[in-house]
Amino acid sequence: MGIEHQDEKKGNAIRHRYGMVVGRGQSTWTPTQAVITKAKGDWLETADGRRLIDFSSGVLVSNLGYAHPGFEKHWKRYCKGLPRNAYNLITEIQTEAAERLVKSMKRPFAEKTLWAASGSEGIQKAMWCALKRDPEKHIILATRRGFHGKKGLANDVTGEVSANPNVRWVPFPCEDEQPESFYAEALDALGKAHAGKIALLITEPYLGAAGSFHPPKWYHKLLENWCRANEVPFIFDEVQACFGRTGNMYAFESYGVEPDLVVLGKGMGSGEACSAVVGRADLIDALDYGEASDTFSAQPSACAAVCATLDVFKEEKVVQHARKTGKYLSKLLQELPKRFSFVKAVRGEGMVYGIEMENAAIANRCVLEAYRAKPKRGVHLLGPLAQKVLRVSPPLIMSRDRLDEAAGLLTKAWERI
Ligand SMILES: Cc1ncc(COP(=O)(O)O)c(C=O)c1O
Repeated sequence: MGIEHQDEKKGNAIRHRYGMVVGRGQSTWTPTQAVITKAKGDWLETADGRRLIDFSSGVLVSNLGYAHPGFEKHWKRYCKGLPRNAYNLITEIQTEAAERLVKSMKRPFAEKTLWAASGSEGIQKAMWCALKRDPEKHIILATRRGFHGKKGLANDVTGEVSANPNVRWVPFPCEDEQPESFYAEALDALGKAHAGKIALLITEPYLGAAGSFHPPKWYHKLLENWCRANEVPFIFDEVQACFGRTGNMYAFESYGVEPDLVVLGKGMGSGEACSAVVGRADLIDALDYGEASDTFSAQPSACAAVCATLDVFKEEKVVQHARKTGKYLSKLLQELPKRFSFVKAVRGEGMVYGIEMENAAIANRCVLEAYRAKPKRGVHLLGPLAQKVLRVSPPLIMSRDRLDEAAGLLTKAWERI
């Protein structure tokens, strides 16, 4: 991969071996290319013994941190004796996990579940449901600059240009936020142009990959109301935002809306690969036997991980903790633009923020300096999003003390820039 760090003999050797046998396309660019050999709590440890405070949670996956004792205990208990794959079998753990997901939403729309093995597959299945329910309707509305995944239909509704001729874009408030009437008019114009032909509207609670743009509360309510009035299924992509990230269990609670289908992923399995569509039975049941099946969806170990995650969320009041800690994190981050002229903005909510830097070069340098903050200590950040926005998404279980420590390390490190 071409990256070497001074004094990282073991890490450099592993990076070299990795680069020889794994394609570059496997990873998203991160200038540190950290080589991790241990992970515990909110720490990652590199092959050469550098301890990093984790500010990424994988990619908003390890919400309970690493080797969480409660999670590991419950997960092993649920997995005991089960087959590793349950294609065309029914296990109780799949049933229980689906029942608990439905119940956890506490809303009438949450009736049934479809499992998937990744976020983009979940998005694709949710869209299939809406497209199949009424084959006369083929137009897909997607809010602009969202990220829903790189595969299939998920990719078709990502960004603002689509190879799919049926996709139409709805503006999403970003840097150029407009009054509510602007978005209402855009929706009405699309409704008129495609009357009776619109199959679905898909949106993201906040724009994550596009650089952390969190819309005003009225925005999603406007989309929901428009969908209701026009009988268009409203799909909420919570792949990244679910399970406490925004300070509520689900982002639809944070934004005060009731979608028809919600897509979950990332943190729901605390690291086991899983995703799920939860929502209205009439939409989910539009797909018949086999139309949403695949080899790895609803693995018993993944469903066990969902149950174990829900257990820990309840026992340790993870969401309440995240809500409080998130306020503290927000305060710490808001200090950064005052201290460093190259920090242009901090945007976010709950336990997910974006720090916008002056340019891509500085953003990359900040990731590297955070890693090397001290000879054996640092902070792990993902490579910049949208070129110059640093994602801050620590495990939800992080303490205030650890946040203070991380902020101290970042400040020291960035003083070198
Ligand atoms: C909002 C959102 N939707 C969908 C996806 C795609 O998920 P996956 O990478 O598991 O396919 C992501 C991944 O980052 C995401 O953030």
